[in-house]
Amino acid sequence: MLPDARPDDDGTAAPAGPGRRPADRVALRGDLRAAVPDATAAVAVTAAVFVFLSVRMGSGTSATVAVMPFMDDPDTYWMYLLSQAFGWSGLLWAWGTVVLGLLLSGPRPARLPVSRQVLERWHRTTSLTTMALMFAHALLFAAELVRYEVQLTWAQRLWTGFADTFVPGWYDSGTGRLAIPIGQGALYLAIPLGLLFYVRHRIGANTWRRLHRFVIVVYVLSVWHTLLYGTNVWYGEWPRTVLWLLQLPVAVLLLLRLLRPSRRAERLGAPGRREGVSLPGWTVRAAGRAAAAAVVVGLLAVVVSGHDGGRERPAPPATSPNAQEPE
Ligand code: HEM
Repeated sequence: MLPDARPDDDGTAAPAGPGRRPADRVALRGDLRAAVPDATAAVAVTAAVFVFLSVRMGSGTSATVAVMPFMDDPDTYWMYLLSQAFGWSGLLWAWGTVVLGLLLSGPRPARLPVSRQVLERWHRTTSLTTMALMFAHALLFAAELVRYEVQLTWAQRLWTGFADTFVPGWYDSGTGRLAIPIGQGALYLAIPLGLLFYVRHRIGANTWRRLHRFVIVVYVLSVWHTLLYGTNVWYGEWPRTVLWLLQLPVAVLLLLRLLRPSRRAERLGAPGRREGVSLPGWTVRAAGRAAAAAVVVGLLAVVVSGHDGGRERPAPPATSPNAQEPE
């Protein structure tokens, strides 16, 4: 989560007055400039994933081709592969920025390799990069649809590519009927929840903080979308296991953040003890903590049992009846 504007952790509201902490009025433009090295690294990671996926497609070991045999040509389907690569770098950056946010808002680690200010800056720049990567992932998927629909006129191709990608409910085939709106939900929530930081002095630091914590929903939707729809994690093989495993540190950090938030005002306390927290409010907060604990247990159960929702890879040649599902 993005850092807040408070001067310390005494639980008081952030001062909004001009001149109190001018350094906290971090301009979007400044952060965009600071995000350049981060975004460059993300592009390099995307390129590496793209090469990896292309080589696998070329060598006949691609899970995507096992699911959709017609895609057995990396030169034709390069935009689809690039979309997948941006999806992976987007998810990796989302993972990183969520971990940084939870480190900042949860119990303070005894020792950090870098200062809190540096962590905050990384959190902001990685958030911006994540949004760009998510958008690039969707845009390349749209571009691939435009390229693919050769039988239509250009206007129809552009409209289909746009609507199938960006209009919720438009895509009407297979698992995509659910998985695409989930991805769209993640993308459309990420943008306002991430960018509200830059207008927090207008909407108030408390409103911003309350809204920004829902950014975890963006992350959950992104992972759900990937597990549901990613052909490279379609089968119950190591990539899917790694994806599940990567969620453990996030879930543990989320649980710790809820149990021991850095802001004292957010601590749970005994029911009815804390001023301003009604019993229903306390119950909701306690239920949130219990749900986070259940997620940690659930993730452990998935990883240990191997019941991770992955399908069985068909024996070659791949001729499964649902072979073209994720298209
Ligand atoms: C408008 C929103 C979105 C659309 C239309 C979309 C579309 C797609 C499609 C069609 C696939 C299947 C690709 C395959 O064959 O594997 C996919 C997979 C994936 N998506 Fe999205 N997505 C959207 C949002 C997101 C977001 C917000 C994330 C988060 C970073 C994300 C991350 C991924 C990942 C990691 C995969 C797996 C790719 C693979 O298996 O290689 N997507 N998405």
